[in-house]
Amino acid sequence: MSASDSFVDLARYYDPIMSHVDYDRWYLIGGAIGELLPRPFTHLDAACGTGVLLKKFQSDRWRSIGIDLSASMLRAGRQSGRAFPAAAADLRALPFNGCMNYITCLFDSVNFLLRNADMERGIKSLTAALAPNGILYFDIVTERMVLEHFAGQSWTERNGKFVTSWECEYDRKTLTAETRIRVNNGPAYTLYERVYEPEEVEDAVMRAGLSLLGMFDAETWRAPRRKTVRMDFVAVKGDPKPFSARFKGVRDHVRALLR
Ligand SMILES: C[S@@+](CC[C@H](N)C(=O)[O-])C[C@H]1O[C@@H](n2cnc3c(N)ncnc32)[C@H](O)[C@@H]1O
Repeated sequence: MSASDSFVDLARYYDPIMSHVDYDRWYLIGGAIGELLPRPFTHLDAACGTGVLLKKFQSDRWRSIGIDLSASMLRAGRQSGRAFPAAAADLRALPFNGCMNYITCLFDSVNFLLRNADMERGIKSLTAALAPNGILYFDIVTERMVLEHFAGQSWTERNGKFVTSWECEYDRKTLTAETRIRVNNGPAYTLYERVYEPEEVEDAVMRAGLSLLGMFDAETWRAPRRKTVRMDFVAVKGDPKPFSARFKGVRDHVRALLR
């Protein structure tokens, strides 16, 4: 399976471009979910990018490692002074077999899998990497996010020392958003993201053999609504019953955090 690294030219600009992003939300929710697991546990941040979240999780003394398709993203993270254990790998073909107690895969990384079969393969591969009773926490953006905030729009942003110009087109047939990003007056770098119906993702989770603990509007951790722009999924490999009561506690805690 070959896949191209669409972040290769963009990686060195990624952290300043994302400096406005609320990583603490994922960190707090990821941490609350991690409380369900006995310590110490092994943790994989799949599609860890430049390692921002991975570093935060490591600060809690988790046994965390990362993988990302883009060696450039890993390198950019290290060049910005972030030391973290990670390797280049494709989340659709992970080199781990049943050894991870906890996997996070966040900031719409699943939307970067551009065909339904890729998304299915990705969820299966994440599942295979999980140990029995291991937990997977991932998110996706919805079509509503693309239509409201990206499709047909162009805009510029000042990102510290440089300016980025953005243009996004959304193809409703292929459910694919094409975003072209130009740094200052340089060439345009193109990123593609595929929209999935939450139910398609839910089906893939079930087919992979996971049990869903929850599927939420990421902004409220309540049931998804028509205006949901991002969704969080939490699933367990094995019997969900031992987790169910304690997971309700996590859910309520997260709802309170998000209020
Ligand atoms: C929006 S970035 C999110 C990165 C990181 N999780 C963060 O929070 O900053 C999406 C990431 O997914 C990675 N990615 C895309 N396809 C992948 C694949 N098939 N396997 C592993 N990583 C992939 C990209 O290289 C990129 O780093």
